[in-house]
Amino acid sequence: MAYLDIENFCKKFDNTEVLKGISFSIEKGEVVSIIGSSGSGKTTLLRCMNFLETPDEGKMTLDGERLLQCPQIKKEKESVLRSKRLNFGLVFQSFNLFPQYNVLNNVTLAPLLLLKTKIKELKKSLKEKKKTDKTVTSAYIKKTISEYKEEKKKEIDNDAKLLLEKTGLTDKTFNYPCQLSGGQQQRVAIARALALKPKILCFDEPTSALDPELTGEVLKVIRSLKNENRTMIIVTHEMGFAKNVSDKVIFMSDGVVVESGSPKEIFDNPKSEKLKSFLINLENKENI
Ligand SMILES: Nc1ncnc2c1ncn2[C@@H]1O[C@H](COP(=O)(O)OP(=O)(O)OP(=O)(O)O)[C@@H](O)[C@H]1O
Ligand SMILES: [Mg+2]
Repeated sequence: MAYLDIENFCKKFDNTEVLKGISFSIEKGEVVSIIGSSGSGKTTLLRCMNFLETPDEGKMTLDGERLLQCPQIKKEKESVLRSKRLNFGLVFQSFNLFPQYNVLNNVTLAPLLLLKTKIKELKKSLKEKKKTDKTVTSAYIKKTISEYKEEKKKEIDNDAKLLLEKTGLTDKTFNYPCQLSGGQQQRVAIARALALKPKILCFDEPTSALDPELTGEVLKVIRSLKNENRTMIIVTHEMGFAKNVSDKVIFMSDGVVVESGSPKEIFDNPKSEKLKSFLINLENKENI
């Protein structure tokens, strides 16, 4: 079985069918690019995979675990959705950083919130244990929690600093988003997504809001993540990059996967008329 398996995703908004039975699979460590014209359903597909939308139909399995089966008999609790969502890191076109926090705090915020939940759970289980185990005293619980908290906080801080180093932002650690260029902000967004240690990193046109001279620095970071064998799905209009970095390319049009294959197959030997005209249109645009 593949690492990620998407089967027959269908999604309607009102009466418009936006996804019409999307299926594909990804192996661990693979980089898959999704290309297609505006309105073909790429963002909707990512949002369905990330539990930001619920497909009307479809199944999703990740790393042997069935994460989604639609239609659902019962709506899932927000806490369940949240924990399922953690399997995926999302980087959007607009960076969506928290303007009131510095770079480091933008990266550590979500892991710290998660730590709070874990501490609550630990406290609860220790209190439960106290009922039957005399060695578990109130003082012991307090000490255990405080040590755990300190250790984890240090870990989160160190991880964040390593991620900032990896994304070339060490000198911006204490700066605020408004003091950064678009490319730097997008690199913070990537570090922030990585901080939650997702199994799959999803990018939705990560460079389309950037000036061309800033695009390269973001693509360089994504390329370095490929070298670490991270599994990634990249929705992109950067065909050169998709050709270069992907193991597999999926071409979507009008809510269906029209063609998928290696970059060579998709870019050098397109079969369908739709893909051929998509590529020719792009070429013409680039030549204007
Ligand atoms: N929440 C929504 N309600 C109604 N229609 C929606 C909603 N979200 C998306 N759509 C419609 O679904 C279609 C696909 O949109 P989507 O954003 O997935 O396309 P896309 O391939 O990502 O396009 P682009 O390349 O421009 O980002 C569009 O026609 C859009 O108007
Ligand atoms: Mg989109």
